[in-house]
Amino acid sequence: MPQDEISFLRNVPIFSELEEKDLLKVVKLGTTQKYKKGNIVVLEQESGAALFVIISGKVKVVRMDEDGREVILSMFGPGEFFGEMSLLDGLARSASVIATVKSELFMIHRRDFLELLNEFPSVTISLLAELAMRLRKADMQIKSLSLKDAEGRVANVMLILADDVGVFRKGKVEIDDLPLQQDIANMAGTSRETVSRMIHLFIEAGEVQMKGNKLIINDYDAFRKKYL
Ligand code: CMP
Repeated sequence: MPQDEISFLRNVPIFSELEEKDLLKVVKLGTTQKYKKGNIVVLEQESGAALFVIISGKVKVVRMDEDGREVILSMFGPGEFFGEMSLLDGLARSASVIATVKSELFMIHRRDFLELLNEFPSVTISLLAELAMRLRKADMQIKSLSLKDAEGRVANVMLILADDVGVFRKGKVEIDDLPLQQDIANMAGTSRETVSRMIHLFIEAGEVQMKGNKLIINDYDAFRKKYL
């Protein structure tokens, strides 16, 4: 169904400026792949053969240590891409990417993707803009890990998750399927117990609510201003 795929690609930021005929070209270059929750899409250290765009679902980008402990570097949802780093620099995959729910991905092989970058400057510029945004986030994370106390570091992880996979509505942000407290602890460079304590602190202050596994930041702008 190319028409469905074209409408999907039109809403993907890196392809949004392409004309209909060019979108069709992109559709023809790619294939759709389905992944179950927990499936590994990209494995750290393997050589990179393709770029992925998320049609539906959610993935986490992780790095692991020798003991199998993982730290989540980022999470991506529909319309976002990953796997570009090894395609651009020719080195091994910088991290593993795992589907956290059932996901459908659009995959483009390396050579075709590099040709697209040559042919369509708007795709290249959007890709660079997104990479700049990711570097800004990584800078935020470095600052948070090196300069902030535990409260600030946990709040910073909430803000990263909100930006990555949150649903914004009337000043609030809802983060469905909050990662495990141990995962949040690894991202914040603290312990699981501290994460639990900090989330309770935010709840007592009326800054966040928990509904099952969903975390809601009540006033995103105020939360960001206070903790960033
Ligand atoms: P690649 O190195 O090919 O495979 C792993 C992918 O994870 C990588 O491309 C990026 O798309 C993504 N990735 C790696 N590190 C980060 C990060 N710090 N923030 C967001 N995405 C990342």
